Amino acid sequence: MDKIIIAGGKRLSGTIPISGAKNAALTLLPCALLTDEPLTLRNLPRLADIDGFQHLMNQFGVSTTIAGNRPEDFGRVMTLQAPRITSSVAPYELVRKMRASILVLGPMLARMGEATVSLPGGCAIGNRPIDLHLKALEAFGAAIEMAAGYVRAVAPDGGLPGGEFDFPVVSVGATENALMAAATASGTCRLLNAAREPEIVDLCNLLTAMGAQIEGIGTSELTVHGVPRLHGATHHVMPDRIEAGSYACAAAITGGEVFLKGARAEDMSATIHALRNAGVTVEPGKGGLSVGIDGPIKPLTLSTAPYPGFATDMQAQLMALLCKAEGTSVLNETIFENRYMHVPELTRMGAHIETTGRTAIVHGVDRLTGAEVMATDLRASMSLVIAGLAAEGETQVHRLYHLDRGYERLEEKLALVGAAIERVGDD
Ligand code: UD1
Repeated sequence: MDKIIIAGGKRLSGTIPISGAKNAALTLLPCALLTDEPLTLRNLPRLADIDGFQHLMNQFGVSTTIAGNRPEDFGRVMTLQAPRITSSVAPYELVRKMRASILVLGPMLARMGEATVSLPGGCAIGNRPIDLHLKALEAFGAAIEMAAGYVRAVAPDGGLPGGEFDFPVVSVGATENALMAAATASGTCRLLNAAREPEIVDLCNLLTAMGAQIEGIGTSELTVHGVPRLHGATHHVMPDRIEAGSYACAAAITGGEVFLKGARAEDMSATIHALRNAGVTVEPGKGGLSVGIDGPIKPLTLSTAPYPGFATDMQAQLMALLCKAEGTSVLNETIFENRYMHVPELTRMGAHIETTGRTAIVHGVDRLTGAEVMATDLRASMSLVIAGLAAEGETQVHRLYHLDRGYERLEEKLALVGAAIERVGDD
């Protein structure tokens, strides 16, 4: 397997193009199951997770064609079409590899009247149950059965009658599944305390373009008036706010200055607020964000929270930045119970971090030192890259498949702004 080698200490400067959002793409792709007409998605990031989802869609009989695939371009255009769905089962080997496969449950139920999806099982960053996905579908009138590690959802004849579900915990995935299932319900479906992440707004915008009737887009109360059928559409995937935030941390830790081309400030308020409090300058400009720093990194106290709060998906990268702050930071992870797996690896690079339960206390240090480190999940991997960019000497990051799931051509983008980074085959 490949590894990334970084010679730390280079100041980043220049422009980094921001790709389409992975987490938006993963909920836009299954919308192809909702119609027999073509769905074209522009600005899809080229990532292992997207390839995996494409493969899953092909298994259901969805055809996929790709255009705009010049090697030098970031992103691509995919057209998906499902005139006929050949299977309504998402098997264990696919769901296990990619948890987002659970997002076929809602659209498959809507289109076929039934869906059988393997339970995803545990996950590196916590238990991640799917009970809320199932309870929301049940509230809309689906019958749910569990057997042999699979969940089967069945709609009454004539489709889901509709209903109301009040989420006890805000869930991005469960909100997405419920929205897709509700789009063609025979009645009205209401979601209370729904997630309102920008990726959910992107999903609602696509569903609306396909003919869905949704009220309350961007709020935590969503009302979907079911329509008999959806049609095809063309949609531009929103920019990846987590990728943009990650590169902002990378630039800041090197004392650099970058323009994040395509990043959208309005999706990133909490990240921008945190970065500014840490002494980073962030200026929204035409077509992107300018990020720089001209003083010390300042310590922060911060908790992760559902949108519009500070994203759990930015916690590891911000922590890497705070490792070099002048003072002590306190981070509190409220979303996932096991999301500090980067801490032991950052410690091996000279960071001084103590964790107790969901709290991490980060004592800023003057210097980080290069080391061989092992990535344990996607955002944890990126935190090690960020630390490596500022470390003295060489950092080798192993287990790149995590990074390849979520960062489109990371080493190329960082090299564009002056990082000494290369990808080599592991020995
Ligand atoms: C999505 C994102 C992930 C991000 C997370 C939180 C995708 C593909 N993934 O994951 O990158 O870190 O949102 O912003 O978009 N929960 C339950 N029962 C459920 C579902 C969730 O208890 O049925 C809990 C989870 O354990 C967690 C919390 O709700 O504590 C939030 O999880 P959720 O928003 O569902 O995360 P995902 O959709 O899996």
